This record gives sequence, structure tokens and C-alpha cells, in this order.
Amino acid sequence: MKMPEGFLWGGATAANQCEGAYNEGGRGLSSVDVMPFGPDRFPVATGKMKMLDCDDAHSYPAHEAIDMYHRYKEDIKLFGEMGFKCYRLSIAWTRILPNGDDDTPNEEGLKFYDDLFDECHKYGIEPLVTICHFDTPIALIKKYGGWKDRRMIDAYLKYCTAIFNRYKNKVKYWLTFNEINMLLHLSFMGAGIVFEPGEDPEQIKYRAAHYEIVASAKAVKLAHEIMPDCMVGCMLAAGQFYPRTCNPSDVYAAMEADRDNYFFIDAQARGAYPVWAWKRMERAGVKLDCTDEDLAVMKEGTVDFISFSYYSSRCTTTDPELLAKEGADGNAVFASVKNPYLKASEWGWQIDPQGLRVTLNTLYDRYQKPLFIVENGLGANDVVEADGSIHDTYRIDYMRAHIQEMLKAVNEDGLPLMGYTMWGPIDLVSASTGEMKKRYGFIYVDKQNDGTGTLARSRKDSFFWYKQVIATNGEDL
Ligand code: BG6
Repeated sequence: MKMPEGFLWGGATAANQCEGAYNEGGRGLSSVDVMPFGPDRFPVATGKMKMLDCDDAHSYPAHEAIDMYHRYKEDIKLFGEMGFKCYRLSIAWTRILPNGDDDTPNEEGLKFYDDLFDECHKYGIEPLVTICHFDTPIALIKKYGGWKDRRMIDAYLKYCTAIFNRYKNKVKYWLTFNEINMLLHLSFMGAGIVFEPGEDPEQIKYRAAHYEIVASAKAVKLAHEIMPDCMVGCMLAAGQFYPRTCNPSDVYAAMEADRDNYFFIDAQARGAYPVWAWKRMERAGVKLDCTDEDLAVMKEGTVDFISFSYYSSRCTTTDPELLAKEGADGNAVFASVKNPYLKASEWGWQIDPQGLRVTLNTLYDRYQKPLFIVENGLGANDVVEADGSIHDTYRIDYMRAHIQEMLKAVNEDGLPLMGYTMWGPIDLVSASTGEMKKRYGFIYVDKQNDGTGTLARSRKDSFFWYKQVIATNGEDL
């Protein structure tokens, strides 16, 4: 089995996890820049702790990251060597508008991505751009409290106008918000939100979700006006919830848990909130600040395709004992009990290749729009041998198993899949933990958790494996 001609094989990164140079080129400070390495990272990411500036007591992995800002030519050349057809990257909002809503965009920032896109096209690599990947300008967090405030929509649109006009001849594929549903779990990371005493987190989160959904719809409309041939997608942190048993209450709980996530994609793909969502919000006492104009905009700004990340399926139960014993919300972010049929990565993320086929089918049944897998991969601890080689067979095994299921979804189920950009083709900073040790790459970067390392790049075994996968369009796995 192989993929159809024109399939977009490649890899995906995010600006704050690889670029570094956080205060160069006129770039303004962003939410991710103040998220430290270590125990304070998670409280900041979830909005439980407030940290709107950097201090000497913490270290900040996004500041240098893997220095791709200065080394992108070398890195894109390596992507070209692997035969990438597509590179998913995000633009750092504050490189373009340092304060988030400046009237004049920062030319140095615009020029940086201009050059980067040219470099991609040199190797026949199609850029796929995430407009907002876990970064909210600090200036807007101070001014508005991040996405708590409706005025964020206009700021985001200002940013979109600047990048759409500038890159209309260089970028065809766009994503409005990375893992938009993550806003419910990582509120600072997803929306620049810190909960103040007395605030109702549910109310705040759904209000912010609505503003992002309206902003996304407006961006889709604007993109189509400026670039009639472009395609704009939404982006879901996917992975279906399985019921732990066939007890109907477990089945119902799994359906409800999935709805937390579909809430966003239903709105972005269908242009309206599902009926159950209104009832749910009513029961929770959540009042959306939703106007008739918002509802009309949502209808007009539906996405062209559905993209998603997939690392793992999830599992839920209504058994209180099991929940107390296994229901954790640590690194895996989503509260999920263990699935006894699956093994897990070193970071506890359960590995379920068949779940990718389930997810692809569920999303297509639900939306009937083209699909794009924009993240999938294994975070692991790599060992560099004395001769410099890295034998990451575990990563190859993980990816092979997932690609096999993807091939079945296309060839046996007939699903329209546009591409596959695995997460972190080059080692980069982990979003959830801020570590370097949790590596995803085909390309190793000599940078360690304590900040030491030469930043030199080298090829792992998986580099040569993926090159062959792309060359044979998925036939030789
Ligand atoms: C996704 C994000 O949630 O998962 C990425 O879009 C992130 O930004 C990736 O890096 C893997 O997660 P982590 O925490 O292992 O980096």
C-alpha cells in the first residue's frame, strides 16, 4: 500500500519551541517566553500561577530553544535531504506585531519568514503555517487578560491581515489555532489566561473559546478574500476517548469527554455550536458573550479541512475507585485512566496506532472534509553512541505502526487525507515539560536540559528510514 501522488509528507514545529532569539529582530515578549523549565511550568501553563515576566530564579527554554532563527537554512536543507514535501511551522505573532496589535508590522520579522519560505520552496517544500501556536503576546495579556477579552479578535485579525498580505504568494495552507481545544486544559499556553481570585474558570474558558472560534471564522473569510486558492484548516488535539468497560455509563462518559473537544471543531467545521453544547453551558451556568453577528460570521467562516495531532487514544471510566487510583492529569494533560491493552512511552503517553485509524474515520464521518495529520510522533530519551550514531529503533517502530494504520485508512477506508507532518522532525523544546531530553526528531540537536550543548545537528537512524518512506510514498516501511 502507498499514498496517492501529491501526498504531503513532512514534519511540524512551532516557533517558540525551536526558533529561540526571543528578543532579537524586534520581537516582542510572548506568553511562552515566561514559561519556565521545572516545577513552575505546569502551574503557569494552566493559568494557576501568574508569571508575566522573566526572572533570574528560573530558566526559560524558549529563549534559545534550538536556535533555528539563525540556523534555519541548515535545518531546511536537512528536511530537503529527507525529501519533505511539506513543512508545518508557526509564525511567532510577536515577531510580526511586537505588542500584538501594532498598526505597522515589524519589517524584520516579516522578512525573516519571507526568507524562510523561500528556503522551503528552494527544496520543493510546501509551507503549512500555524497562525497561532501556543503564543499570546504579553502586551495583550497585560492589556486585556489575553483571550478573556473580545478585543483579542481584532488584534488577531490585524496580525492575520499582515501575514496574509505579505505571504499570499508563498503560503497556500494555513491553520488558525494550534490544538484549539487545549484552551480548556492549558489556559495560559492556549489563550494567555490567568485566573484571578473569584473568577469562574469555566465561564472564562468558554468565553475565551468563543472569541477564538469567532476569530478563526473571521480569519478563514479574510484568507479566502486575500488568497482565493488557499486552504485554511482547524487543528484539534485528537485522540478518542474509549470507555474502559462496556458498562453503558462508561460509554456515555466517553462520549461526553469527546464532546469537550468536538465542541470546537463542530463550530469551526459546521459553522454553529451543536445543540448539546448550549444545554451543557446552560447547566454549568456559562453565559457566552455571543452576538447575532458572531453566529453569522461562524457560518460564513467554516474551515476547508480538518487537521489534528494524534499521539494517543484516551480512556475513561465512571468507577470512582479506578478514577481515584488512575485518573491523572499530569504530563498527558487530559485526565485519562489507563487502557490495559496498551503500552506507554517513557513519558506515560499510551501508544495506540489503531486509534489513529479510528480517529481518522470518526473525524471524516463527522465532518466529511479533507483531513490532515499535522502531528504524530514519539517523545523519547535518545542515546548518542561513541561514534555519534543514534539507533532510535523505538521511534521507527512507533512511526511505522502509525503510518501503516494511516495507509489502511486511505486505501481500505477511502478517506481523503492531504498529508502527514510528524511532530518535531528536529529535536526541540517539549511544550508540556520544557525539556530537551524528550526528543522527537529524526535530527538530533546537541542541547541538554541544563542548557549546555553545541547545538550541532546530526542524523539519527530514523532520518534514513523516513527518507525511504517518503521516496516510496509509504510503500517501503
Ligand atoms: C502538541 C503540541 O500538544 O504536542 C506541540 O501542539 C507539542 O506543541 C506536542 O510539542 C508534543 O508535546 P510535548 O509536551 O511532548 O512537547
